[in-house]
Amino acid sequence: MSTVLAFDTSCDDTSVAVVRDRVVLSNVIASQVELHKQFGGVFPTVAKQAHLENLAPSLKASLQRAQVGLEAIEAVAVTVGPGLAPSLEIGLSLAKKLALDLKIPFIPVNHIEGHLLSPLAERRARLIQPPAPKLRFPALGLVISGGHSDFVLINKIGAYQRIGFTIDDAAGECLDKIGRMVGLGYPAGATIEAFAQKGDANSFVFPLPMTESRDFNLSFSGMKTFARNLVAKLEATAQAEGQPYLSKQTIYDLCASAQAGVFRHILHKLEKILAQTEVKELWLGGGVAANLALRQLLRFKANQRGLTFRVPYSQKLCSDNAAMIGVVATEKMARGEVLKQPRQIQKVDRQPRWHIGDSLS
Ligand code: KG4
Ligand code: ZN
Repeated sequence: MSTVLAFDTSCDDTSVAVVRDRVVLSNVIASQVELHKQFGGVFPTVAKQAHLENLAPSLKASLQRAQVGLEAIEAVAVTVGPGLAPSLEIGLSLAKKLALDLKIPFIPVNHIEGHLLSPLAERRARLIQPPAPKLRFPALGLVISGGHSDFVLINKIGAYQRIGFTIDDAAGECLDKIGRMVGLGYPAGATIEAFAQKGDANSFVFPLPMTESRDFNLSFSGMKTFARNLVAKLEATAQAEGQPYLSKQTIYDLCASAQAGVFRHILHKLEKILAQTEVKELWLGGGVAANLALRQLLRFKANQRGLTFRVPYSQKLCSDNAAMIGVVATEKMARGEVLKQPRQIQKVDRQPRWHIGDSLS
């Protein structure tokens, strides 16, 4: 068994975790959501400063919760990309320093691989239970978050092919932007899910993009434009009727319709992939994977086709977190994919645009 200390400072959350094989011993996340709310998105220099302030206390809390000291740590892992360069830099420099000071292996990790393998993270109870059933390959992984929407073919752990991706906005980003149009604050995904339950998804029919294209790519910018025009029209109608704002029910209906539109597009492309690719499992990760309606749709699709469906065991593992980075790292350790020489470790740089499946440059 290998115990890894993992860091993720790719965007606006500072996270430190301790992972033993696939078991999460601790997963501390210092969220910056409140700081960035005023900007309606993540402001990189503010994020960098907050990472600097949050990292040391998060490290301390993570070791405490895991009930391990630094002497028990066998390797240090960190997200090196993709992400915001100023944010990545903070986690990377501390992780390098620790690996060099403690003279233990260093493992650079791709953030998307973290989301991809997040369904494999296991609870502490796993340490005293029989091993989990074997994974079946090839599997198809969906990483649906605020920054990414990728379809990844997993031939085995460590061998990936990105077969589809968004050509513009990510799914979560699209939901966030639509939420902002009707004053839901940032990020809006979870609120949209809650509001959608009170609304009628058939109220407004969002366009299904890229039905003609043969590839497996996604596009959400058309839905955003559709929503903007729709909101303007609905607001004009409300004002003509003497109402200064949209009614609550209209907002619920809009949320339900927008969410349904976003998921319909993902499902449509998924069906296309499944018709052309023999996969045995379907994995879902990323912030939007917290959405129960999406889980239900994908679980149904997987059951229909006899595929094993895997999602992270907690909501915390869906959004940005370091435990998923630790899971990737323990898999890399088992394959001997670690850096040991101080010169190699010092040379590792941030990779803000590192696509999963591409080698680390
Ligand atoms: O993975 P994540 O924390 O950060 C990125 O790497 O992007 O994902 C954040 C995204 C945001 O767009 C947020 O609105 C969305 O995940 N999200 C949700 C839900 N919870 C978070 N979207 C839909 N339903 C949810 N319950
Ligand atoms: Zn992420």
